[in-house]
Amino acid sequence: MKLRDRKLASTAVGNADEGDIVLSAHDITVSLDDKLILDKLSLDIRRGEILGFVGASGAGKSVLLRTILGLLRKQSGTIKLFGVDVDKASDMERLRVDMRLGVLFQHGALFSALTVQENVQVPMREYLDLPKKLMDELALLKIELVGLPPDAARKFPSELSGGMIKRVALARALALDPDIVFLDEPTSGLDPISAAEFDELVVKLRDTMDLTVYMVTHDLDTLFTACDRVAVLGNKKVLVEGTIDDMLKSEEPWVKSYFRGKRARQLDLAARA
Ligand SMILES: Nc1ncnc2c1ncn2[C@@H]1O[C@H](COP(=O)(O)OP(=O)(O)OP(=O)(O)O)[C@@H](O)[C@H]1O
Ligand SMILES: [Mg+2]
Repeated sequence: MKLRDRKLASTAVGNADEGDIVLSAHDITVSLDDKLILDKLSLDIRRGEILGFVGASGAGKSVLLRTILGLLRKQSGTIKLFGVDVDKASDMERLRVDMRLGVLFQHGALFSALTVQENVQVPMREYLDLPKKLMDELALLKIELVGLPPDAARKFPSELSGGMIKRVALARALALDPDIVFLDEPTSGLDPISAAEFDELVVKLRDTMDLTVYMVTHDLDTLFTACDRVAVLGNKKVLVEGTIDDMLKSEEPWVKSYFRGKRARQLDLAARA
């Protein structure tokens, strides 16, 4: 079965039950500097899916991500991760939830003074108390997992290509074996071939690690080839959500021009070939 058909089959199941919802954001309102950024936005993510989150630059995609992670304050709404309402969780519950999340921030550069291995170990040092030898072995496993050679471990970020840096950042996001990873524009700045390889890696990791992926992206290739479902942010809320086919049928003006522009049409023809 081709990837696209498999995705459509897997997303045809409409009503996921509660246990399948990894993240549920409901009626989220966020204002920053007296400016309303998100207005009663709601979004669910199901276990095992790759959700592509798209929207105009400055629409609030990163703000929503930071709000979900508890880094920005919301004015109203509820966020449940793995069924836990993060506002009502005890410190211990919150810690347990945090340890199940991996994050690759949009501008989340690696620490330039740390080696690749030390960068990957940052979340381990923050949350776990492990002997150095074990941490070194775990870091090497993650480095291999994202397709980097073992000798990358001792290198510094300045010695790596852009594509390798993204892979190290992904390895760092995977450091604690999370159940969900949040990737904010992970392929921006990469050439199309490196970006496609990164997308393939994300799909492979989802398939092999029972991972759920929340991916903010502007990359139409990614949306067509890697994402099971797409949610579009506009007018401060989720305007439309569904499969790529739903996006192609949408009459919402921004969605229409984004997904049915010239470049998108070429990609769709290629995907259907
Ligand atoms: N910490 C902050 N304080 C005040 N305003 C902020 C803050 N972070 C973001 N904003 C504002 O919120 C709005 C949404 O920004 P955000 O970074 O979420 O956009 P985005 O959708 O991620 O855009 P892009 O695709 O360019 O990354 C912008 O107007 C931005 O200036
Ligand atoms: Mg952003």
